Amino acid sequence: MSGTFISFEGIDGAGKSTHIERLSQAFKAQGKVVTLTREPGGTPLAERLRTMVLNDPMDAMTEALLVFAARRDHIVEVIRPALARGEVVLCDRFTDATFAYQGGGRGFDWGVLERLEQWVQGGDVLLQPHLTIWFDLPPAVAAARLASARVPDKFEAQSGAFFEKVAAAYGRRCASDPQRFARIDANLTPDAVWEQVIASVRIKALLP
Ligand code: TYD
Repeated sequence: MSGTFISFEGIDGAGKSTHIERLSQAFKAQGKVVTLTREPGGTPLAERLRTMVLNDPMDAMTEALLVFAARRDHIVEVIRPALARGEVVLCDRFTDATFAYQGGGRGFDWGVLERLEQWVQGGDVLLQPHLTIWFDLPPAVAAARLASARVPDKFEAQSGAFFEKVAAAYGRRCASDPQRFARIDANLTPDAVWEQVIASVRIKALLP
């Protein structure tokens, strides 16, 4: 795989979106072809699964299976082909979100998620992002940001206790793969957050 794969993670309200867009511009300025995508979603089928996962009540295992089904389609149809062409794939959430939300938030079995990860992302080599930028923000701060925003979806409507568990699960994933993760302090001004984002990409020599 010759391309560059970067994922963006964090609890709802952590403020990923503007930085993903800005990073896309930074890669394009270097003449790179960028695929901006998201999970669950990124293909017509996966977007339909996203609508179900974000709106319909279901048990945690069903949720985990649907997000991995969406991920499989996304990998086969979009991510692997783009990487094989040498492009840059910027993905708003990837598998760490499943560990955080279904594993941490909803308490679904961590070991089963690890097996699904091997299955769905396996092949000759396990597909993982080269870099995962984790926007770490205290859940209370994220909740205050979300309160003034839009109508909450199924996850955004969850309690503070839920997001404490999601945040802790992100911490666990980060600790288990520290080379891949860049933890960003998202409780700062947008410019100060951006400085950390761009530094995390440069330190990996993914941008000059
Ligand atoms: P999000 O990425 O925050 O998009 P938006 O900015 O449009 O709200 O929303 C996706 C939601 O899906 C988020 O609450 C986390 C959840 N999610 C899971 O529960 N499991 C997963 O595997 C993924 C990728 C996302």
